[in-house]
Amino acid sequence: MQTVDITVTVNGQEYSADVEPRLLLVHFLRDRLDMTGTHVGCDTSSCGACTVLLDGVSVKSCTMFAAQADGREVTTIEGLGSTTSLHPMQEAFWAEHGLQCGYCTPGMIVAAVDLVKRNPDPSDEEIRAGLEGNLCRCTGYQHIVNAVKSGAAAMKANTPRTNVKDAPLEGAPVHELVGGAH
Ligand code: FES
Ligand code: FES
Repeated sequence: MQTVDITVTVNGQEYSADVEPRLLLVHFLRDRLDMTGTHVGCDTSSCGACTVLLDGVSVKSCTMFAAQADGREVTTIEGLGSTTSLHPMQEAFWAEHGLQCGYCTPGMIVAAVDLVKRNPDPSDEEIRAGLEGNLCRCTGYQHIVNAVKSGAAAMKANTPRTNVKDAPLEGAPVHELVGGAH
């Protein structure tokens, strides 16, 4: 079986591996690196559950091969924040009830961070347009828009990160905010 050597920096750490040329980036992240916060919803580029940042720009990791990430930097939901240091966008999704089952949440949050970096003060319409590639099967879209607005404001204000281990977020599926396994 033909393989290729790749080296990818994921969440600040360099990983080298031999992979089949056909291996998708999302499967490399989940199956080889055990980073299961990046979800697979459709495998056909429709749902956005697999969204990660590639060199800082959001991409659907089911639409590219792991070999195409060779020499590049990937940020997954696990790299944005943790339970001891929630990213402002993760905290906003909790505070605004921007998640229900949480399946779409990692992709939504990663895509929202990219959107807000490009447009720090987005309107509701701009958020809806910016996240049109991310689907929520629980259909909680208004809460998601509210969360992105709130997260954008917190990112702009550089709000300090929250440690939810010391101050648990009551009722929130916190593990989904930071990359729960699915
Ligand atoms: S799994 Fe990649 S877009 Fe749905
Ligand atoms: S919260 Fe369930 S799919 Fe979006």
